Amino acid sequence: MDNSTKIYIAGHRGMVGSTVKRLFEEKGFNKIICRTSSELDLRNQLAVNKFFATVKPDVVIDAAARVGGILANRDYPWQFLYENLEIQNNLISAAHENDVEKLIFLGSSCIYPKLAEQPLKEDALLTGPLEPTNQWYAIAKIAGVKMVEALRNQYNRDYVSLMPTNLYGPNDNFDLETSHVLPAMIRKFHDAKEAGHTPVPLWGSGSPMREFLHVDDVASAVYFALDRKMNYDLYNVGTGKDITIKELALTIQRIVGHQGEIEWDTTKPDGTPRKLMDVSRMKEEGWEYTIELEEGIQSTYEWFLENIENIKEVKL
Ligand SMILES: NC(=O)c1ccc[n+]([C@@H]2O[C@H](COP(=O)([O-])OP(=O)(O)OC[C@H]3O[C@@H](n4cnc5c(N)ncnc54)[C@H](OP(=O)(O)O)[C@@H]3O)[C@@H](O)[C@H]2O)c1
Repeated sequence: MDNSTKIYIAGHRGMVGSTVKRLFEEKGFNKIICRTSSELDLRNQLAVNKFFATVKPDVVIDAAARVGGILANRDYPWQFLYENLEIQNNLISAAHENDVEKLIFLGSSCIYPKLAEQPLKEDALLTGPLEPTNQWYAIAKIAGVKMVEALRNQYNRDYVSLMPTNLYGPNDNFDLETSHVLPAMIRKFHDAKEAGHTPVPLWGSGSPMREFLHVDDVASAVYFALDRKMNYDLYNVGTGKDITIKELALTIQRIVGHQGEIEWDTTKPDGTPRKLMDVSRMKEEGWEYTIELEEGIQSTYEWFLENIENIKEVKL
């Protein structure tokens, strides 16, 4: 890759895509191509094929997807399964047909079986049943991983799947119904502080353990994977460290400056007790995360305050 490499970032307005775009701009790439979903609906195969035939990108980063939390997955299984299949099928096949040199397919840790051994290794893929709540999304992403693998095996394509752990950072979704746990906590503690330090209700016991990665680190992993020949088709991207939901809540509470109570609603389910990625494969290639959780939450909260009028709230 050099600065004139034509890079198409699919999903450039999303949390991951916008961060990748910023990083590549900072690195001096001057042929970054982007289309919003209203300019190019990636579910539309004809439109995608026409776009690729006209624009002829050298590199494709697939950060476009229908993304959401448990409630959104529960209520929209069809969209999570079918739209994600459509988007990735169209992108990956058009990339192959148009001789795109490198492609990064982004998925998530939910592709691994619910009861897979922790920390989750890439080899755990398809060794057991999935977590039922987000199986729709997971099945689509597994299909994408397999498409990348098939193209590598059969056509020697230098395409790679990166599976990040739970992400957070600027441009996240802060809607209380559809967001992930970390941005939801930032929102809840902030709103409770503004309301005079009212109590913050949180689901479960606080004992499950989760891993979190700042989105800037994912962008650096995408750059890393594009900038060299990678040995495998599939890589986990995370910190390899986890904390309890209770520790996370206390850290966010302190950073936000909320002085009220936390009310743990133990009648609500805890979910999987632990979800940690094995990140040794990426480490062996030479990539590691750099942003510690505390520092990342601090800067995300600063971003939240600066952008409070325009923060993203994805509705069901
Ligand atoms: N967020 C996380 O915690 C997390 C964790 C692990 C992995 N990931 C992965 O990272 C990727 C991106 O996630 P994200 O959090 O950045 O998502 P996001 O903020 O929701 O952004 C998704 C982007 O996809 C685009 N998109 C959706 N449907 C489209 C369509 N039909 N046609 C064209 N574009 C479409 C949207 O474009 P417009 O804005 O133009 O509508 C949007 O900008 C996903 O594959 C996800 O699995 C995310």
